[in-house]
Parts: sequence; C-alpha cells; structure tokens
Amino acid sequence: MSRPTRRKDAARTIAFTVLREVWGNGAYANLALGQRREGLHAADAAFVTELVSGTCRALGTYDLIIARASGRALNSLQPAVVDVLRLGTHQLLAMRVPTHAAISATVDLAALQIGERVAGTVNAILRKVAAHDVAGWLELLSEGSDERGRLALATNHPRWIVDAWAQVLPADELADALAADNVAPSPCLVVRPGLADRAELGGTPTRWSPFGAHRDGDPSAVDVVREGRAGVQDEGSQLVALALARATAPAGPWLDLCAGPGGKSALLAGLAREAGELLVASELQPHRARLVADNLRAYREPNRPVTIVADATRPAWRDGAFARALADVPCTGLGALRRRPESRWRRKPTDLPGLVALQRDLLSTAIRSVAPGGVVAYVTCSPHPAETVEVVAGATGVTVLSAPEHLPEVPDAASGDFVQLWPHRHGTDAMFLALLRRNA
Ligand SMILES: C[S@@+](CC[C@H](N)C(=O)[O-])C[C@H]1O[C@@H](n2cnc3c(N)ncnc32)[C@H](O)[C@@H]1O
Repeated sequence: MSRPTRRKDAARTIAFTVLREVWGNGAYANLALGQRREGLHAADAAFVTELVSGTCRALGTYDLIIARASGRALNSLQPAVVDVLRLGTHQLLAMRVPTHAAISATVDLAALQIGERVAGTVNAILRKVAAHDVAGWLELLSEGSDERGRLALATNHPRWIVDAWAQVLPADELADALAADNVAPSPCLVVRPGLADRAELGGTPTRWSPFGAHRDGDPSAVDVVREGRAGVQDEGSQLVALALARATAPAGPWLDLCAGPGGKSALLAGLAREAGELLVASELQPHRARLVADNLRAYREPNRPVTIVADATRPAWRDGAFARALADVPCTGLGALRRRPESRWRRKPTDLPGLVALQRDLLSTAIRSVAPGGVVAYVTCSPHPAETVEVVAGATGVTVLSAPEHLPEVPDAASGDFVQLWPHRHGTDAMFLALLRRNA
C-alpha cells in the first residue's frame, strides 16, 4: 500500500512545538509563543496564538472529551499524541476550521512530528470528537453533574476554582466571573509618576487609575516605554499601589518587600519621590531583582529608588525602619487567569498550604518593618480566600484600615474592609488589597 503524502503546515507545527514545551517541559505558553511566533505573517501568528491559547485554556474539558472519544485513559496515550489531539479538538470544536481540514491537517501533523504509526489512532479519535459540536459534548459530559460542575465544564475551569469563586462572589455573578477569565485583556500601560505624562502613552485612559492607558500593539514600540519612563501594568496593580500611597502614615522611607519584576515598585517609587521619600525595592531572586532595577532605571536623584536582593522572611533591615510597606506576596495567581491560558490547569489546591505559610511569614515581616503608625498593604493577585482574608485574619499588632475608603472612585470594590477587584466588574485582574496600620 502506498504511503499517504503528508503536508507540512508551518503554523500548526509551531503550535504543536509550543504545546509540547508547555505540557512537556513546564514552559509558560505566552513566553514560548512569543519566541516561536517571530517571523510569521500576522494571520499565521494570530492562528498560532488562538490555537495554543485556546487549547491551553480549555485543556481540562478537551481531555475529558478525548478520553470519552477514545475510550482510553489519557495516560495510556503518548504525551505528544495527547497534545496533537488537543490541538485537533480545539480546531474542531472552537475554531472555524472545516471538519475535514481540521482532521487531515492534524493527522498530517501527527505523522510528521511523531510518526506515521500514530496517524491511524489520531484519525480515528478525531473522527469521534467531530461527531458532536461543543454544545453536544458539554451536554454529554455534564450528565449527572450539579450546577457548579456544569459551569466548570462550560467555562473551562477546574471545579476547585469554581468552588473558591463561589465562596467570595454572589451566585448570580459566578458565570460572568468565570467567563471573564476566558477573554485576554488589552495591554495596559502606566507612567512612572514625575517622569512622563499620561498623554505620552496614547491609547485610552484607564477608568480609575490616573496613571494608565489601554493601548493595543507592541508596548516596546512606544517611546516612553522604551525610555523607561513608562511600563506595562494592569490597572488593578496601579490601583493597589495608589491606595498605599494615599494612606495616612508617618514620614519615612517606603519598602516593597516582594518587588520582582518591579511593576508596582516603579509606580510607588515615583509616588514616594513626589512625597519626598525614598523607595527600597527588595526581591529574593537575583534575576528578578535585575528586572526591578531595569524598571526603576529612569529615576534619578533626589530619592533615587534602591533595589536590593534579600529574603524578606529574614529581613536585612531593622524593625520599624519604614513608614509604608507593600507585601505583594507570591500567590497562586488565580486572579490573572485571563493572562495565562495554561495556569488554571497547572495550579492545584495542593499549592495553597506552602504559599499560605510563606504569605503569613511575609505579612508578618512587613508589619515588623514599619514603625508604629506605619501602614502595610497586603496584596495578592488571587481572590482565593485562603490567600486573602484568611492570611490577614492571622495578622497581629495591627488595626485593619478601610481599604475601599482609599479607592473611593472604584465602584463595587469593597469586600468588607478589603478591596477585591474582578475582571468581570472592573476589567482588571482580580487583585486583593488589605491596608493595615501597625499599632503603637
Ligand atoms: C507577586 S510577585 C511581586 C510582583 C511585583 N510586586 C510587581 O508588581 O511587579 C512576588 C515576588 O516575591 C518574590 N519572593 C518570593 N519569596 C520571597 C522572599 N522570601 N523574600 C522576598 N521576595 C520573595 C518572588 O520572587 C516574586 O518576585
């Protein structure tokens, strides 16, 4: 029997390579995509981006579909074959690729990238996937599920995240909040206060932050960004930094004790300078501290910000040395799922205990770092209650301030004394903010 002629498709081959890097080697999809997309025509680059991002976002749902269609557990298939099937499933169920083209291009991809021997299996499984549209598959997979289970499938979220959101959101907002995680945000720029004017950013001014603007396109093509007088930062991050700067606190230097890569440091440094104060930006990882220094490079004397490498659980400074401290702690990042397509499936509830222990430690350092009367902003890019209110509840020697009163212009942001922003309400990442004053 003659061998079929296989057609190489550059865009699909790149998408497959990126997917292998993400699910085989733990790469971040956005970074891997950025490197591989270079040199492609705009239409091909957009196709690869949709193929990779869409596949990563819906991965858990697609895996259930592939398992059902193949009648096999996925771990009985070669990992590269699973990735090819995921790409094929996305084309069949979520892109406007005709069924025949989606199947034949994916089978050719499998034959050329993995081996002719897997072509038949891939072909047979994809034909079964193509037997239903996405609504049909969701109906089949949802049989016997409760409402949250159905929502998890329909919005491509793991169940544990849906359950966590349900703890902190009104029931009638849950579906909107989950849907908002599936819409990639437009790039948001921010000025370094005192070094650039917002008008220099171009684009559309951010709704509440006086420092930002939404602007499509490559940020590094914008003059002020190239010059280090502006950067890229979600509006939510701008707002939490602004709230700390607005709090009433004694005179004295400001500390950012988890600074890398330096987005909030860059905004705080300018606000501190305007208040006649100095910002110290501290970061554990040397390579991330270098990113902080780069973000701060345009600031000059007076009060030129200082970057240091330090483990904030063993602070390199004396107790009470600062007037304000930002503890923007390492977290699950569940508040930025819309930016990182793969992360909802990579994160596990078992990540929480280790992160929470570190968050408690870092918050306790932050509190000890400010003088009595000084103010700490505890910030996470996660709305998960274990990382937010439950960590703050364990803090001692502080008075909780009303964070919403420090951002009065932002509607629907109050969660008791805390600020909780949401993509579906505010168009920002789901940032959490608590403001705490150290007791005398
Ligand atoms: C959420 S990120 C901070 C983001 C940053 N504030 C910004 O806006 O660009 C948390 C940072 O804390 C750092 N980190 C983790 N453990 C730390 C520790 N023990 N001491 C200091 N920094 C730490 C991580 O390396 C990471 O860069």
